[in-house]
Amino acid sequence: MKIGVDYYPEQWERKYWREDADQMKEAGVRIVRMGEFAWSRLEPQEKQYSFEWLDEAVAIFAERQIQIILCTPTCTPPQWLFEKYPEVIQMDKTGRRVPIGIRGHRCLNHPLYRQKCKDIITKLATRYRDNAWVVGYQIDNELEANHCCCPVCEEKFREFLQKKYGRIENLNQAYGNTVWSGEYSSFSQIRPPFGEHPTWLNPSYMLDFHRYASESTAEYVAFQRELIHAIDEKALITTNTWFCENMPDCYEMFADLDFVSYDNYPATALPTDEETLYSHAFHLDFMRGIKQKNFWIMEQLSGNLGSWTPMSPALQPGMLKGYSLQAIAHGADTILHFRWRTAVSGAEMFWHGILDHSNVKGRRYREFCELCQTVNQLTDLENTVISNKVAILYSSEQEYAFKIQPQVEGMHYFTQLKAYHDAFTCFGVGVDLIDWMSDLSIYDVVVAPTIFVTNHEIEHNLRQFVENGGHLILTNRSGVKDANNLCIMAPLPTVFSDIAGITVKEYDPIGPVRQRLRLAEELSENGKQTAEASLWCDIIDAEDTKVLARYGENFYQGSAAITQNQYGGGRVYYIGTVLNRRGMLALIKYMIRESGIEYVEGLPLGVEHTVRENGKEKWTFLFNNTKETQAFSWKVVSQKGADEMHQEVLKPFEMRIWKE
Ligand code: GAL
Repeated sequence: MKIGVDYYPEQWERKYWREDADQMKEAGVRIVRMGEFAWSRLEPQEKQYSFEWLDEAVAIFAERQIQIILCTPTCTPPQWLFEKYPEVIQMDKTGRRVPIGIRGHRCLNHPLYRQKCKDIITKLATRYRDNAWVVGYQIDNELEANHCCCPVCEEKFREFLQKKYGRIENLNQAYGNTVWSGEYSSFSQIRPPFGEHPTWLNPSYMLDFHRYASESTAEYVAFQRELIHAIDEKALITTNTWFCENMPDCYEMFADLDFVSYDNYPATALPTDEETLYSHAFHLDFMRGIKQKNFWIMEQLSGNLGSWTPMSPALQPGMLKGYSLQAIAHGADTILHFRWRTAVSGAEMFWHGILDHSNVKGRRYREFCELCQTVNQLTDLENTVISNKVAILYSSEQEYAFKIQPQVEGMHYFTQLKAYHDAFTCFGVGVDLIDWMSDLSIYDVVVAPTIFVTNHEIEHNLRQFVENGGHLILTNRSGVKDANNLCIMAPLPTVFSDIAGITVKEYDPIGPVRQRLRLAEELSENGKQTAEASLWCDIIDAEDTKVLARYGENFYQGSAAITQNQYGGGRVYYIGTVLNRRGMLALIKYMIRESGIEYVEGLPLGVEHTVRENGKEKWTFLFNNTKETQAFSWKVVSQKGADEMHQEVLKPFEMRIWKE
């Protein structure tokens, strides 16, 4: 368990370096990250290297026994490189080279850029491989799926397709290219998706482009990893990721890296709607799920956010510490705060760090010191993990497919996943967010939201999970497409109809309006039997299947909306609509009880319960993610019966941790 900071020696006069390192040491910092944007300082002219300053910075931290993560600086190639080799600048979908001067604007595939990366990375890793305080490397910075459309990438895309389909006839067949004279007679006719109207392009081709773009970034990461690993076998290697518009498939990108690291910036303004209250927990669980193991935070919230956007509200007292501990509660083992000092120059000068421009140690600094002290005492937590009984399946295929063809206004893939995560979190049930192709045998409950694009493997895995006694949730927009993103000609949910025990007669994409739903008695709470449906309504034919909710209005009033089917040793729930929060909580509570998994009764809204364990001992975390003090009574309910009641009072953003 370590707390650290992100530090940019190249941005500060040398006189600050020792002072900063002393203060970090005094605060309890045990690790720093440096160098991810420092290429122009390390190689001011082509092949003229200048590492002495970094040697000095590394030595300053090493002397103080603070570990160091160095970054490959490849996210910001220097200006001389772009001047000399303009062909390495990324090309956007209009066919123009993107403006330089920011960052991340290089073509990941260009051989010249790769050579330059190789040169600088080789220098870096060779120089520090024998330094025991340099414990690892971060590759690049916040990589996105490679959407560059330059001639090099165009060729790479064609190679990807050629490898996948072999013959152009196979590709035409897979895409259904007879529509609109879309047939190719040669791979050379295939281009990246140029133009402003991607929704007019063939969805099968677009899905392949997204697959290629993701694979391309993963291959770039593998290229850098191999370079470092060949020089320094024992170094830890990772890259830092975040939730961005062009997400690569993280399972692929992190496959050969040692661990996942995430840049965690929870919003400092608390959400006004209840649904988004648990979003940070969702993001953290997602990160842990990528490798199904503990992870790092490479950048953690430390001050008001702002720079290219207006500034966010100040951190509430307790937030800096609380959000860091929340990450630990969800499986983070090392957390580096972004950043030690707030920049005084450059585009990010209002993205605040621990120390303000004033250079006066303030409230956030004091809270940061408290955090370090707390975490430095948590040595017992080393080697503890989170083991959950519930999994939600994420699939980049679905994310891409929904972006290519939004199904109805207001319905987004991530929102579907979050809604289920939110409901389990409200009952203190830990959730793993995992790749849809993962082994499901360790789970009791699996939620597989909107398996829009299917394949034989997922069909087989889900069926087997249920046959073996698992409880599965399927939702609307499942089984719509085959692996080529072509519609399947069968009643929905097509390949899942038999396990769900239903078919969909018709559907009504109602969008963001709300309709009444009548819940079955089992789902009613305090005699209340209504909830609301929105966005999408599957009108279900549920002849021999138990109905848990029916539509309460519209021309399909009385038709089934939610069903439950016994299949093999397990159950399949089919949720034909999108439930409001009340309905969702009623459904999940019913399901938790039916499956017999352990849950918590009495958690107030915004209070999270998580557990880390090591087989012998168990640590429980209770976190108050609200601005109010929460006083409540709670108990754990399991098949063995209910635990005794506990009393708890948590201040705003307070975390309680205890061992049993
Ligand atoms: C992150 C990025 C950092 C910095 C930070 C604050 O997303 O990795 O380099 O830009 O945001 O803006």
